[in-house]
Amino acid sequence: MRTRFTELAGVEYPIIQGGMMWVGRAELASAVSNAGGLGILTALTQPTPDDLRREIDRCRSMTDKPFGVNLTILPSVSPPPYAEYRQAIVDSGVKIVETAGFKPQEHVDHFKAHGVKVIHKCTAVRHALSAERMGVDAISIDGFECAGHPGEDDIPGLVLIPAAADKIRIPLIASGGFADGRGLVAALALGAEGINMGTRFCATVEAPIHRRIKDFIVQNDERQTDLIFRSLRNTARVGRNGVSQEVVRILSDGAASFADVQHLVRGAQGREALEAGDVEAGLVWAGQVQGLIHDIPTCAELIGRIMHDARAIITDRLAHCL
Ligand SMILES: Cc1cc2nc3c(=O)[nH]c(=O)nc-3n(C[C@H](O)[C@H](O)[C@H](O)COP(=O)(O)O)c2cc1C
Repeated sequence: MRTRFTELAGVEYPIIQGGMMWVGRAELASAVSNAGGLGILTALTQPTPDDLRREIDRCRSMTDKPFGVNLTILPSVSPPPYAEYRQAIVDSGVKIVETAGFKPQEHVDHFKAHGVKVIHKCTAVRHALSAERMGVDAISIDGFECAGHPGEDDIPGLVLIPAAADKIRIPLIASGGFADGRGLVAALALGAEGINMGTRFCATVEAPIHRRIKDFIVQNDERQTDLIFRSLRNTARVGRNGVSQEVVRILSDGAASFADVQHLVRGAQGREALEAGDVEAGLVWAGQVQGLIHDIPTCAELIGRIMHDARAIITDRLAHCL
């Protein structure tokens, strides 16, 4: 299947594995790339820029196909050394980057100056347009369904994807709520050139997280997520557990602040949950698409199935409607 995205990234299939904190390591990224999609390492999962260099080398030893790196830029009182992570990506010869978060201009300029293609992930048409003006090569647009940060506009993919497709000229990737061939065909029909998946790739054999977390995703249905940090205007969608419910409860008191929930939401606790398989140890990031995830295939099985089903829908079901 050829789209403007497969041409841009030099991959066989228009399927991206989005950056995922603690999950986007070489095991998963290389498996996705080996299966013909675009695997993505998550820069900030590595404790230092030098660790990222080593992780990129490790990924390269596991695949000879293209893979990318995600750089998530979050406002922080003590930000990580973004410029050094960025330099590690450039020095390692990675040719495609997924940026996400606030004010990416400086990073986009640097990547572009070094011949790195940039996919900027965002959650609003106006942000997509501003990233296009910044010179990024593609936009990944995350609908309200998505795991992680859906923004504050609450626009689901069914509206957000075509609204973005109407406005931007560079290739558009649809993100949030995708898990199967139906989703891929729908995304293409809505004007996207491919799909980006997070939660679906967590429930694969190669995802470097505990089996109990994968089972948690499989057992959950589409209703089992919580939106946390709403009152702080930093909304995040996570799989529903005792921790997410407690965060929602505390913040439902309008006077509560981040300090009141900080002890519950530390990244280290989320990491502990993923690695030890203790679903109550911290936040477990997952989207509404849990309701469409019923098994734990390899990445090759998953991508093969998505492509097979997408082709069948296009050539059989849709063709027969005419
Ligand atoms: C466990 C997990 C961690 C994530 N961490 C990040 C991250 O660090 N940076 C980022 O840009 N997106 C992150 N995301 C969002 C994904 O890259 C992707 O945009 C999102 O999962 C798409 O929605 P879906 O889960 O419905 O497929 C994360 C998602 C999950 C499930």
